[in-house]
Amino acid sequence: SAAVLAMAAPMAMADGHGAGCDDGEIVVKFSHVTNTDRHPKGIAASLLAERVNTEMDGTMCMEVFPSSQLYNDDQVLEAMLQGDVQLAAPSLSKFEAFTKQFRIFDLPFMFANIDAVDAFQASETGQAMKDSMQRRGLQGLAFWHNGMKQFSANVPLVDPSDADGLKFRVQNSDVLVAQMSALGASPQPMAFSEVYGALQTGVVDGQENTWSNIFGQKFFEVQDGVTETNHGIIDYLVVTSTDFLDGLDPEVREQFLTILDEVTATRNGEAFAVNEEAKQAIIDAGGEVRQLTAEQRAAWVDAMKPVWDQFVGDVGQENIDAAQAINA
Ligand code: LMR
Repeated sequence: SAAVLAMAAPMAMADGHGAGCDDGEIVVKFSHVTNTDRHPKGIAASLLAERVNTEMDGTMCMEVFPSSQLYNDDQVLEAMLQGDVQLAAPSLSKFEAFTKQFRIFDLPFMFANIDAVDAFQASETGQAMKDSMQRRGLQGLAFWHNGMKQFSANVPLVDPSDADGLKFRVQNSDVLVAQMSALGASPQPMAFSEVYGALQTGVVDGQENTWSNIFGQKFFEVQDGVTETNHGIIDYLVVTSTDFLDGLDPEVREQFLTILDEVTATRNGEAFAVNEEAKQAIIDAGGEVRQLTAEQRAAWVDAMKPVWDQFVGDVGQENIDAAQAINA
């Protein structure tokens, strides 16, 4: 039977034990860090659970733990290998300890838009990336989209020199550290759940994220404004452990993966629109959204794109070329 935990789930349910699953059902705990509403990942996770719990009732039971209730992204993959959680969808930036292949997704201005990301992931190279961590016990199942990243800070960001000397929260990724260093900023790796407080108290001055995350976490309320830079992407890998997947009966695995594929196709097609709605919601709530002229944006490209040179050995020139060909 079904258990989709809402954002304010009682703490008693946070251990997830039997919180609505029946005896004999395979329990799939899905831990993630974002909000559930008006968020590409939050909506997709809830839809996946709803379908599994309806169509696989009696066989499989999925419990979703959103908003970092269960684990931060720096804990969830280890928890998965321990068997404490069966499904997660961390951003591709969060897999550094397992693979360096995903660094291509963090390189600034690598992908023109989320459709280009989708096309790259659909290629043979992209699909092979899902299998790249099997040796480490992790199996990628699907890429889920969020969207393009924007910069925000406690001062207006128009020229890249405006970021000089500021502290920026970044996800725990060497590429993002290098990207902020290229701007003369001080990168501060930090868990997602800590960012709002860090911005509010001035531990950091700014951050980069998608419209849906900036809206969902209310970052805009504690920033001067958000500048529409579209300088990078946040995308996810839905991941499980090889142990868990191999332990499923073939028919059960097949049914689960078919549902996941259908949810992926449906929700990835809506990710852009969900972010546009979040952007409008920020504006409606009184948040400042700044546009750049083509010339101003070119200055950000000039400042950050040299970072590619530092990581070409990790990501492969042929993959960079493939991504650029898709953009064109
Ligand atoms: C972040 O840490 O900023 C994002 O990866 C959070 C998320 O899951 O979108």
